Amino acid sequence: MSHSRIVVVQSSPRNDTLSVTRQVVQKLLEKLAKLSPNDKHILNRECAELPYVDKEFTEKITNPCKHNPNGDKVASKAWTLSWECCEELIQSDIIVIGVPIYNFSIPACLKSWIDLCTVIKRTYSFDESGPLGLLQGKSAFLVVASGGMEIGCAYDFGTRYLRHILTLWGIAHITVIDVSQGQVERALQQIEKITSLVPPTAPMVKAHLPTYNHKPAMIHNSEPNPLNKDGLPSTEPTDMLAVPEE
Ligand SMILES: Cc1cc2nc3c(=O)[nH]c(=O)nc-3n(C[C@H](O)[C@H](O)[C@H](O)COP(=O)(O)O)c2cc1C
Repeated sequence: MSHSRIVVVQSSPRNDTLSVTRQVVQKLLEKLAKLSPNDKHILNRECAELPYVDKEFTEKITNPCKHNPNGDKVASKAWTLSWECCEELIQSDIIVIGVPIYNFSIPACLKSWIDLCTVIKRTYSFDESGPLGLLQGKSAFLVVASGGMEIGCAYDFGTRYLRHILTLWGIAHITVIDVSQGQVERALQQIEKITSLVPPTAPMVKAHLPTYNHKPAMIHNSEPNPLNKDGLPSTEPTDMLAVPEE
């Protein structure tokens, strides 16, 4: 691939010197640049600068394409930035997200970015069988850093949640760069092994998610959740499966 466009989404409030995720994202970008030397198009999105969803957003989100805020001087900041952030995703080939784990999940500002980007007819839609991602064929790299927790463990709700959202948007190729317990060296070794920006045949994915009308199945079981190997209630995901389209 010669001209991949990359959007880099940062959510650490710390600067380039202090932030583990920013340092590792930088190394990842250097590696991606080596794999694609003509690649010059990088967009940076700082989540800390994003607003929360506001009233106007909630009113326009049901039919967003009718409300393109370009040139609209009265559009709210949330609605304008939602449009911009979605546009960045639509125009990009690769999405790189820096994610410090905060309290077993993602930072609040990254959640704001997700709220602004999860817009029907922009990043996902519905067909007769349920939600359908509109960002097919793109790849995502999640640089996830923690203090003590293992990335991907039962109580890492952050990585699991991000995978879930990216799958809803139709992104099948998700690489997690593991910077658990601040182990930057190990993450750099993982980056060194990356050989391709975007796998040549990105399969279509469908997110099997409950639709808004769907009544979630209740678990009629008086037994507590089984415990996993860490002695915590099992939180194996039961509500989402990403499957290649047949
Ligand atoms: C508010 C806050 C909450 C945190 N919660 C967790 C946590 O639940 N589990 C964990 O392993 N580390 C936790 N950490 C540690 C960070 O994930 C870790 O320091 C990470 O490297 C921060 O990324 P950054 O250096 O890019 O800012 C927390 C740090 C902060 C500031």
